Amino acid sequence: MIRDERIPSDELRRIDEEIRSNWPTGSEVDFEEAIAYHESLPDHKRFADVLESADKPLLQPRAGVPRLDDQIELLEYLHREGQADLLPTTIDSYTRDNEYEKAQEGLEKAQETGEDTLNGFPAVNHGVDGCRELIDSIEAPIEVRHGTPDARLLAAITFAGGFQSFEGGPISYNIPYTKRHGLEETIERWQFVDRLAGAYTERGVRINREPFGPLTGTLVPPSIAIAIMLVEGKLAATQGVRSITLGYGQVGNVVQDVAALNALQKLGDEYLPDEVVVTTVFHEWMGGFPPDEARANGVISLGGMTAAIAQPDKVITKSPQEFQGVPTKEANASGLRTTRQVIDMAIEQNIDIDGIAEEQDLIERETRCLMETIHDHGDGDVVQGTIGAFDSGALDVPFAPSDSAKGDVLPARDDDGRVRIFEWADLEMDEDIKEIHRARLSRRADTEGRDQSFRMVADDVDAISDGKLIGRPQSSQSHFQEGA
Ligand code: 5AD
Repeated sequence: MIRDERIPSDELRRIDEEIRSNWPTGSEVDFEEAIAYHESLPDHKRFADVLESADKPLLQPRAGVPRLDDQIELLEYLHREGQADLLPTTIDSYTRDNEYEKAQEGLEKAQETGEDTLNGFPAVNHGVDGCRELIDSIEAPIEVRHGTPDARLLAAITFAGGFQSFEGGPISYNIPYTKRHGLEETIERWQFVDRLAGAYTERGVRINREPFGPLTGTLVPPSIAIAIMLVEGKLAATQGVRSITLGYGQVGNVVQDVAALNALQKLGDEYLPDEVVVTTVFHEWMGGFPPDEARANGVISLGGMTAAIAQPDKVITKSPQEFQGVPTKEANASGLRTTRQVIDMAIEQNIDIDGIAEEQDLIERETRCLMETIHDHGDGDVVQGTIGAFDSGALDVPFAPSDSAKGDVLPARDDDGRVRIFEWADLEMDEDIKEIHRARLSRRADTEGRDQSFRMVADDVDAISDGKLIGRPQSSQSHFQEGA
């Protein structure tokens, strides 16, 4: 039975050697030599320091192409033309599934044809030297962004390759990404990743870790996301990680988004050990995007506005081509520039909107209920508590494809467009909080002249790509227009 305990160093060494023997580039890793390489990097490439010392939100896109030269060119472009402060390297899907042979085939084909035959950068196949060539070429910190349930080899190679930030976590890269891997298994895999990051940290090379906050990206109630961030932060801290960036995905209601980001920082500071530096990242809308670029820019701008008010440490930007999938470099830079323009225009206005404190209080109370049930399910052990709470449904994520979460909880927007819980299933929550959600949803049902039903949930899922925030029925929309 695994628990929230630090992996002993001999065990760390044993797993590390076993993992690295699985693929030829694994043998390129030499921990002592890697520490020396990190120490040789200039200050402006030290991810945690750059992020933690910034005085306004830093911008970071997603970007990954298979060939090393192309990846260098792409990141240079996003740094220069998009003025990204932090750069990413998005890993391809084969690597995320630990299919390194297929990634190799894709990489070779890309090298022969010049086409992007993979949807990201196969860092394991490029190996330590390939990663370092990238780190050496780009004058900014770079993070590994992926979606890998078992990221142990990827971490071993990219850490030795000079990356100082690594996205993901045992819940956030399981629940939304895979059906195949159990929660206990991914927690164990990620304990190794965090322990390895902790080993570098102990030697003065802080590796920043960033749990993936948006989860399924679809109307996730803020308190559920925040509780999972706190769990992943605690697990990472146990293994020795000292720079943790907790994530949150935009839901589109400005008051709720600002309140959630405030709560995320506050609860992060409270729940994580004092020796951890906690920062936050705001993801621009992760749900379905409008199909045309003009409207997509509207969604991105609202994200920029929200970021200007809440002032998270970092913003992950979207591109106006989100609807089509992986963006061109021009579209990617344009998402960065749109976000920058809005943030820079709004940030000095010190915008204050009514209702944030009240919403933040609600989110904090909800999150505390969830943290308490996790605590109780594990008799104080957060690993067993998390597994137990997901098992019983006391902790749940809406629309989760994974068998590890029940996925029985259903969200819907209230009359202001804030995400509430429509179907609680077995989610643990104080009765008075449930009552607040019910009352809010009932007001919306009255406004729309219809019953609360799954129809509302489905309408909300499509609403933003359809050009609105709340999935109102057509008839009630025209009713509003007449009334106004
Ligand atoms: N380059 C840029 N963006 C990417 N995404 C996934 N892979 C890449 C890549 N290689 C983006 C998608 C979506 C998000 C989940 O990740 O476009 O915005």
